Amino acid sequence: MKKVAIIVGSVRPNRRSKQVADWLRVQLLKSSSVQFDVVDLKKVDLPMLDEPQIPFTGLYAHAKTRKWSELVQSYDGFVFVFPQYNWGYPAVLKNAIDYLGKEWQGKPVSLVTFGGHGGSQAQAAMRLVVTGLKMKQMAVNPQISLMPNDSQATADYRLHTHDAEAALLRTEFENLLK
Ligand SMILES: Cc1cc2nc3c(=O)[nH]c(=O)nc-3n(C[C@H](O)[C@H](O)[C@H](O)COP(=O)(O)O)c2cc1C
Repeated sequence: MKKVAIIVGSVRPNRRSKQVADWLRVQLLKSSSVQFDVVDLKKVDLPMLDEPQIPFTGLYAHAKTRKWSELVQSYDGFVFVFPQYNWGYPAVLKNAIDYLGKEWQGKPVSLVTFGGHGGSQAQAAMRLVVTGLKMKQMAVNPQISLMPNDSQATADYRLHTHDAEAALLRTEFENLLK
Protein backbone atom coordinates (compact mmCIF):
# COMPACT_ATOMS: atom_id res chain seq x y z
CA MET A 1 0.00 0.00 0.00
CA LYS A 2 1.24 3.52 -0.82
CA LYS A 3 1.94 5.78 2.12
CA VAL A 4 1.47 9.52 2.63
CA ALA A 5 2.86 11.47 5.61
CA ILE A 6 0.82 14.31 7.08
CA ILE A 7 3.60 16.45 8.53
CA VAL A 8 2.67 18.56 11.55
CA GLY A 9 4.50 21.80 10.80
CA SER A 10 4.52 23.70 14.09
CA VAL A 11 5.80 22.70 17.51
CA ARG A 12 5.08 25.42 20.07
CA PRO A 13 3.05 24.62 23.22
CA ASN A 14 -0.72 24.86 22.63
CA ARG A 15 -0.19 24.68 18.87
CA ARG A 16 -3.20 24.28 16.62
CA SER A 17 -1.45 22.35 13.84
CA LYS A 18 -1.85 18.99 15.61
CA GLN A 19 -5.63 19.45 15.76
CA VAL A 20 -5.65 20.30 12.05
CA ALA A 21 -3.48 17.29 11.17
CA ASP A 22 -5.62 14.94 13.28
CA TRP A 23 -8.83 16.21 11.64
CA LEU A 24 -7.27 15.73 8.20
CA ARG A 25 -6.08 12.22 9.00
CA VAL A 26 -9.59 11.17 10.04
CA GLN A 27 -10.88 12.44 6.68
CA LEU A 28 -8.12 10.78 4.69
CA LEU A 29 -8.33 7.47 6.59
CA LYS A 30 -11.46 6.66 4.59
CA SER A 31 -9.10 5.61 1.79
CA SER A 32 -8.67 1.88 1.21
CA SER A 33 -5.70 2.25 -1.15
CA VAL A 34 -3.48 4.86 0.52
CA GLN A 35 -2.24 4.85 4.10
CA PHE A 36 -2.07 8.29 5.75
CA ASP A 37 0.15 8.74 8.83
CA VAL A 38 0.72 11.78 11.03
CA VAL A 39 4.42 12.67 11.35
CA ASP A 40 4.92 15.18 14.14
CA LEU A 41 7.99 17.42 13.89
CA LYS A 42 7.84 17.83 17.65
CA LYS A 43 8.64 14.12 17.97
CA VAL A 44 11.19 14.16 15.13
CA ASP A 45 12.90 16.90 17.16
CA LEU A 46 15.71 17.96 14.83
CA PRO A 47 18.24 20.58 15.96
CA MET A 48 18.82 23.58 13.70
CA LEU A 49 20.54 22.22 10.60
CA ASP A 50 23.90 20.94 11.82
CA GLU A 51 25.11 18.82 8.92
CA PRO A 52 28.54 19.75 7.52
CA GLN A 53 27.72 18.65 3.94
CA ILE A 54 25.11 20.07 1.58
CA PRO A 55 21.97 17.90 1.99
CA PHE A 56 21.79 17.05 -1.73
CA THR A 57 24.99 14.99 -1.32
CA GLY A 58 23.05 12.59 0.90
CA LEU A 59 26.15 12.38 3.11
CA TYR A 60 24.79 12.68 6.62
CA ALA A 61 27.06 12.86 9.65
CA HIS A 62 24.37 12.48 12.29
CA ALA A 63 22.19 9.49 13.19
CA LYS A 64 19.19 11.79 13.67
CA THR A 65 19.49 12.99 10.08
CA ARG A 66 19.80 9.45 8.74
CA LYS A 67 16.69 8.46 10.68
CA TRP A 68 14.78 11.48 9.29
CA SER A 69 16.01 10.62 5.78
CA GLU A 70 14.83 7.00 6.10
CA LEU A 71 11.45 8.11 7.42
CA VAL A 72 10.91 10.56 4.55
CA GLN A 73 12.11 8.00 1.99
CA SER A 74 9.54 5.52 3.29
CA TYR A 75 6.70 7.81 2.10
CA ASP A 76 5.32 8.20 -1.43
CA GLY A 77 3.77 11.60 -0.81
CA PHE A 78 3.31 14.36 1.74
CA VAL A 79 0.85 16.81 3.19
CA PHE A 80 2.48 19.75 4.92
CA VAL A 81 0.09 21.11 7.57
CA PHE A 82 1.27 24.47 8.85
CA PRO A 83 0.12 27.87 10.12
CA GLN A 84 1.02 31.26 8.76
CA TYR A 85 3.75 32.92 10.81
CA ASN A 86 4.34 36.57 9.81
CA TRP A 87 3.29 35.91 6.22
CA GLY A 88 5.66 32.94 6.02
CA TYR A 89 5.92 29.35 7.25
CA PRO A 90 7.22 28.13 10.63
CA ALA A 91 11.01 27.85 10.82
CA VAL A 92 10.78 24.32 12.22
CA LEU A 93 9.14 23.09 9.03
CA LYS A 94 11.69 24.80 6.77
CA ASN A 95 14.49 23.37 8.92
CA ALA A 96 13.09 19.83 8.62
CA ILE A 97 12.77 20.27 4.85
CA ASP A 98 16.27 21.73 4.50
CA TYR A 99 17.83 18.73 6.26
CA LEU A 100 17.22 16.57 3.17
CA GLY A 101 17.39 16.94 -0.59
CA LYS A 102 16.74 14.08 -2.99
CA GLU A 103 14.33 12.47 -0.53
CA TRP A 104 11.74 15.11 -1.46
CA GLN A 105 12.35 15.30 -5.21
CA GLY A 106 9.53 14.21 -7.50
CA LYS A 107 7.22 13.31 -4.63
CA PRO A 108 3.71 14.80 -4.51
CA VAL A 109 2.93 17.37 -1.85
CA SER A 110 -0.23 19.16 -0.77
CA LEU A 111 0.02 22.34 1.30
CA VAL A 112 -2.63 22.69 4.00
CA THR A 113 -2.37 26.09 5.65
CA PHE A 114 -4.32 27.90 8.31
CA GLY A 115 -4.44 31.37 9.79
CA GLY A 116 -6.81 34.32 10.16
CA HIS A 117 -7.31 34.32 6.38
CA GLY A 118 -6.37 30.75 5.59
CA GLY A 119 -2.62 31.26 5.56
CA SER A 120 -2.48 32.18 1.87
CA GLN A 121 0.84 34.03 2.19
CA ALA A 122 2.41 31.08 4.01
CA GLN A 123 1.18 28.82 1.24
CA ALA A 124 2.59 31.11 -1.45
CA ALA A 125 5.95 31.21 0.35
CA MET A 126 6.07 27.42 0.70
CA ARG A 127 5.14 26.99 -2.95
CA LEU A 128 8.50 28.53 -3.90
CA VAL A 129 10.31 26.10 -1.61
CA VAL A 130 8.63 22.96 -2.96
CA THR A 131 9.12 24.24 -6.52
CA GLY A 132 12.84 24.60 -5.82
CA LEU A 133 12.88 21.05 -4.47
CA LYS A 134 11.14 19.80 -7.65
CA MET A 135 8.28 18.28 -5.70
CA LYS A 136 5.05 17.49 -7.54
CA GLN A 137 2.42 20.00 -6.46
CA MET A 138 -1.06 18.67 -5.84
CA ALA A 139 -4.14 20.50 -7.14
CA VAL A 140 -5.90 20.44 -3.75
CA ASN A 141 -4.26 22.74 -1.20
CA PRO A 142 -6.81 23.73 1.46
CA GLN A 143 -6.56 27.15 3.12
CA ILE A 144 -8.40 27.08 6.43
CA SER A 145 -9.49 30.21 8.29
CA LEU A 146 -8.95 29.71 12.01
CA MET A 147 -8.67 32.47 14.63
CA PRO A 148 -5.93 32.19 17.26
CA ASN A 149 -8.52 32.48 20.04
CA ASP A 150 -10.98 29.94 18.58
CA SER A 151 -11.94 27.29 21.12
CA GLN A 152 -11.14 23.70 20.20
CA ALA A 153 -14.84 23.17 19.41
CA THR A 154 -15.06 26.26 17.18
CA ALA A 155 -11.90 25.24 15.35
CA ASP A 156 -13.33 21.76 14.93
CA TYR A 157 -16.50 23.22 13.45
CA ARG A 158 -14.48 25.34 11.02
CA LEU A 159 -12.34 22.34 10.08
CA HIS A 160 -15.40 20.27 9.24
CA THR A 161 -16.48 22.89 6.69
CA HIS A 162 -13.45 21.59 4.72
CA ASP A 163 -14.42 17.90 4.83
CA ALA A 164 -15.41 17.88 1.15
CA GLU A 165 -12.06 19.40 0.19
CA ALA A 166 -10.26 16.76 2.25
CA ALA A 167 -12.19 14.10 0.35
CA LEU A 168 -11.00 15.64 -2.93
CA LEU A 169 -7.43 15.48 -1.66
CA ARG A 170 -7.88 11.82 -0.73
CA THR A 171 -9.14 11.05 -4.25
CA GLU A 172 -6.27 13.01 -5.79
CA PHE A 173 -3.70 10.98 -3.84
CA GLU A 174 -5.51 7.70 -4.68
CA ASN A 175 -5.44 8.48 -8.40
CA LEU A 176 -1.86 9.72 -8.38
CA LEU A 177 -0.40 6.85 -6.35
CA LYS A 178 -2.17 3.99 -8.20
C1 LIG B 1 4.90 33.88 15.37
C2 LIG B 1 3.48 33.96 14.87
C3 LIG B 1 3.19 34.70 13.75
C4 LIG B 1 1.89 34.77 13.25
N1 LIG B 1 1.64 35.44 12.09
C5 LIG B 1 0.39 35.36 11.53
C6 LIG B 1 0.14 35.94 10.26
O1 LIG B 1 0.98 36.48 9.59
N2 LIG B 1 -1.12 35.83 9.76
C7 LIG B 1 -2.12 35.17 10.42
O2 LIG B 1 -3.24 35.08 9.92
N3 LIG B 1 -1.90 34.63 11.64
C8 LIG B 1 -0.67 34.70 12.20
N4 LIG B 1 -0.43 34.12 13.41
C9 LIG B 1 -1.55 33.44 14.08
C10 LIG B 1 -1.47 31.95 13.75
O3 LIG B 1 -1.90 31.65 12.46
C11 LIG B 1 -2.30 31.15 14.76
O4 LIG B 1 -1.93 31.53 16.06
C12 LIG B 1 -2.08 29.66 14.60
O5 LIG B 1 -2.85 28.96 15.55
C13 LIG B 1 -0.62 29.29 14.82
O6 LIG B 1 -0.44 27.92 14.58
P1 LIG B 1 0.09 26.97 15.75
O7 LIG B 1 -0.92 27.15 16.86
O8 LIG B 1 0.08 25.59 15.17
O9 LIG B 1 1.45 27.48 16.13
C14 LIG B 1 0.85 34.07 13.93
C15 LIG B 1 1.16 33.34 15.09
C16 LIG B 1 2.46 33.26 15.55
C17 LIG B 1 2.76 32.40 16.76
